Amino acid sequence: MSKLTFVLADGTERIVDSGPGESIMVVATRAGIPGIIGECGGEMSCATCHVHLLTEGDEFPPPSLDEQDLLEVVDDREDNSRLSCQLKLTDETGDLLIHVPQEG
Ligand code: FES
Repeated sequence: MSKLTFVLADGTERIVDSGPGESIMVVATRAGIPGIIGECGGEMSCATCHVHLLTEGDEFPPPSLDEQDLLEVVDDREDNSRLSCQLKLTDETGDLLIHVPQEG
């Protein structure tokens, strides 16, 4: 079980417990985290799941070329920008700190 701490655009935090097998986007949308929409359902065509991954480390594979392409269109792109639908949680995933740049 991983504890996901979402830092929202207004600076408030929401903490959600999650299990392996789901993406951060799925966990966030189920919990109603503002600013993570997941409009395309994880098909990597909307970028409404953009987050800044604040946790250091290499628990996730680097972004694919398709993910990098789609990240070109987001506002507030940073070096740690990721599409949260591409970040799948596993048994090895630790606790994560995630910034949501979009307003809800
Ligand atoms: S949910 Fe659409 S790109 Fe991630």
